Amino acid sequence: MSPFHMTICRIFFLASVSFFLATQPVLSQINPLAIPPTLSGPTYDLTLARSSHEFMNGIQTTTLGINGTYLGPTLILESGTDVQMNVTNQIGEPTTIHWHGMHVAPEDDGGPHTVIPDGTTWSPDFNVLDQATTFWYHPHLHERTGEHVYKGLAGVIIVRDAIEVGLNLPRTYGVNDIPVVLQDRQFNAQGQLVFNPGGAGQTGNQMVINGTLDPFVALEAGITRLRLLNGSNSRVYMLGLDNDADFHMIGSDGGLLSAPVAMNRLKLAPGERADVLFDLNGLEGQSRTLMSYSSELTQGEPGGVGGGGGPGGPNTNPLNGTDFDIMELRISGTSTLNSIPSSLVTVEPLNESDSDRSRPMLLNNVTGQGGPAPLAINGVELDLNVINEIVTLGDTEIWTITNQTGEPHPFHIHDIQFQILDRGGIAPPAHEQGWKDTVLVYPGEPVRIISRFEDHADPTTPYMYHCHFLGHEDGGMMGQFLVIDPNATTIEQELLPYGDFELMNYPDPFVDWTTIVYSLETISHVRIKVYDATGRALKTLFDGFRDAGRNESIWKAGSVPSGTYFIQIEVDGIPATKSVRITK
Ligand code: C2O
Ligand code: CU
Ligand code: CU
Repeated sequence: MSPFHMTICRIFFLASVSFFLATQPVLSQINPLAIPPTLSGPTYDLTLARSSHEFMNGIQTTTLGINGTYLGPTLILESGTDVQMNVTNQIGEPTTIHWHGMHVAPEDDGGPHTVIPDGTTWSPDFNVLDQATTFWYHPHLHERTGEHVYKGLAGVIIVRDAIEVGLNLPRTYGVNDIPVVLQDRQFNAQGQLVFNPGGAGQTGNQMVINGTLDPFVALEAGITRLRLLNGSNSRVYMLGLDNDADFHMIGSDGGLLSAPVAMNRLKLAPGERADVLFDLNGLEGQSRTLMSYSSELTQGEPGGVGGGGGPGGPNTNPLNGTDFDIMELRISGTSTLNSIPSSLVTVEPLNESDSDRSRPMLLNNVTGQGGPAPLAINGVELDLNVINEIVTLGDTEIWTITNQTGEPHPFHIHDIQFQILDRGGIAPPAHEQGWKDTVLVYPGEPVRIISRFEDHADPTTPYMYHCHFLGHEDGGMMGQFLVIDPNATTIEQELLPYGDFELMNYPDPFVDWTTIVYSLETISHVRIKVYDATGRALKTLFDGFRDAGRNESIWKAGSVPSGTYFIQIEVDGIPATKSVRITK
């Protein structure tokens, strides 16, 4: 190209840019929103590894990823089915993976006790007991959760069920059913992630949505569903459309609401999810922007004015207390979905009168420590060797969460979904009247929640409850509870004679799982198999070497029908068999 042509081109280019700037608002939404790929069951293979991700054109940012460069695939689960997870850790240090919100046994829950050493695979299997909703998965290694999530280890879980399929809702993944993972991040001049450990100070100054900076998403004019997940370490969002139009929330953490709730603002705290419908009918060729109206957040709330630290301290973080774009919705084409259902599912209310026990949960500071004592629950920090609470299997409990600190905290409980009875004595707003696993609790405001602890008793592995600001969680604002079955057989501690084994049932008679206890004289090759009444092999529970002494294996029968089953244990090729009767 001649110099003459170059000049012409440059002049033309400059002219068009200034024309553009003079007539249009600056378009900052320039990157198509990344839609995580999906994985469907029954087997889910997840590999956690060091990686690099191109957040900014041409810049490789060091990250951690799951089957990819940043975040992980969306897991599609069918309610009522058995799933097998294989989580391989290659990040160079130990971590865990927790299925946030799911009702699974403590040993399958992926809490801080279920460490996956680097270079190994953790393979829990479980039955999906939950109803249709949006969950998520993320690491839970004590004191490392914040950093692991911040660098990219997290993903969305979508549970589907027959009731949800029967409703007229958008359900085409990536087209009109879009996962939206909200995260704030800080990048240095080299484009690398800056992680500020400690306290709630893990707020960034730029939004990444599904790992995309400044995103837009192309949508059809029609009813569109966004599954919003606050996957941020600390930031609270106040979501709304740029034109303040109403949208409809249809689901909370643990399932669909009884009916869509119209709103034009939705506050979402870390850990919380919201299933939301946007009516984009008649908007072909137009665009809307999903925003966070963070100027409307409470003073001191992370993300609000003076809340949450971050670059240069709380008051200089450019996102704090200001209104900013989350992503642009670009509407083209039309869809056939143009109405929203007027009712959704039956949310059976748990009654206060059915409660067997009340439990106080005080969000406070460590007792008996001078100066600025660390954040705590009921005056103590997490000690992984201390069980803080023991819940009786089958009980309904009310937990009264009272915040005695100066800032709000999102309180999260593993194992169960709960209902909010009241906030400061007042019934919760309609969008908080469904199933929840995380609730934002304001200073001074007691929030009373109610739940049933129906199954998954385990006398050894606890579940966790904690603040979901990851800096607070890692700092020890966490406790643990066991679910105990008072009628369960106690574990026999003596060694059994060689060649014999014992079945320990929880509960007895066998309903859900049994522990096979056996002892070995020397290190031996052990194979444990389950057969049905016709002698058909159902499952190999263990096949490998075991140390001398007392050993255990667990058979989780899950959804097998009632009947007689045989458990056979072979020690160095010599078999012994016992039968077990499953009654449902
Ligand atoms: Cu999402 Cu215990 O965590
Ligand atoms: Cu959780
Ligand atoms: Cu907190």
